[in-house]
Amino acid sequence: MAAPIVRSVRELMRLVDFALVPRRHRHKKKWAATEPKFPATQLALQNFDMTYSVQFEDLWPSIRVSLLSEQKYGALVNNFADWDCVSARLEQLNAKDFVSEAISHWELEAQSGHSAAPSPAYSPNLRCFTFARGDVSRFPPSRLGSLGVMDYYLMDAASLLPVLALGLHPGDTVLDLCAAPGGKTLALLQTLCCGNLAANDLSTSRTGRLQKVLQSYVPQDIREKNQVRVTSWDGRKWGELEGDTYDRVLVDVPCTTDRHSLYEEENNIFQRSRKKERQMLPMLQVQLLAAGLLATRPGGHVVYSTCSLSHLQNEYVVQGTIELLANQYSIRVQVEDLSHFRKLFMDTFCFFQSCQVGELVLPNLMANFGPMYFCKLHRLT
Ligand SMILES: C[S@@+](CC[C@H](N)C(=O)[O-])C[C@H]1O[C@@H](n2cnc3c(N)ncnc32)[C@H](O)[C@@H]1O
Repeated sequence: MAAPIVRSVRELMRLVDFALVPRRHRHKKKWAATEPKFPATQLALQNFDMTYSVQFEDLWPSIRVSLLSEQKYGALVNNFADWDCVSARLEQLNAKDFVSEAISHWELEAQSGHSAAPSPAYSPNLRCFTFARGDVSRFPPSRLGSLGVMDYYLMDAASLLPVLALGLHPGDTVLDLCAAPGGKTLALLQTLCCGNLAANDLSTSRTGRLQKVLQSYVPQDIREKNQVRVTSWDGRKWGELEGDTYDRVLVDVPCTTDRHSLYEEENNIFQRSRKKERQMLPMLQVQLLAAGLLATRPGGHVVYSTCSLSHLQNEYVVQGTIELLANQYSIRVQVEDLSHFRKLFMDTFCFFQSCQVGELVLPNLMANFGPMYFCKLHRLT
């Protein structure tokens, strides 16, 4: 009885096993010439295993598996399109606007006397649809609407949190210091609050992509009326160029882009050749945040954000910059408490409970958004 099985296994081996291919037909993989010995994605995972297992302890295995699994998206409704039709179409897909859901939930609790939390300050007019926890459906690609602009913008829904936290008011002068490719710039414009908006990014190729996003989503007259100014300057110098000016500043810095670094070899910050650049990131982040704070008028607000889980790039940068501004410029900066904000959106996102300053969205299999760190700062003097 055993013989036929052995024969069929042999046949199977002949079909699939390299060892049974005649030597002259064997193809030796020349990895050394074409592929790096250690792919950057692998180096990234090794680095995260070493640092984040210490930083997050028992939470790390669950964050790790989520980072390696498919990310969830949100559909940011374009207010310059036929937005109520677009919203109705997204509702038909069984998606919900997480912003309005959270606000109505909070209002109901406040009315029934269950919520003692202060009214949360958030940027208005933002509508972003997501699928429910555990639902891994995907949105169809955005399309051109009847008003000549695209109907929604697909982004990690957690990327909207820094813009919501910035708490824009109508007529605010706004600076987006590291703006490209432009998801958050577009969200800033969707608040319909920008008196004028300066969108800057050091990289000219990336500001090109930002221009394309603006052209596809924002009608020309609005772009001109809102006085959107796109520049390609070194953001570290902005404080010297336009100090004490803006009501609101977003500093969404370059970082280790943790999710991207685990699946994309191209332009990966964990490539050996970019080691120095990676080690210098916290320094660059401090310089950019300091420049953003110097560009803010006294009394204005800044939101600092990254898509990294690293304390070194998040809380340490915030604390280091506050000290730097106090010591070098005698400028006082206060961290705003965002715990009410975390409570407001905790049905949609999984937040880390132990941030000393700011808030951090953790990737989670049930709500696979982020990582997204954001911290709101108030320039007092
Ligand atoms: C995380 S990305 C910004 C993403 C963008 N806010 C969005 O939502 O689409 C960081 C950006 O910082 C830019 N950058 C790097 N160094 C910079 C500098 N010194 N000044 C201004 N921008 C810089 C990079 O080109 C990159 O586009």
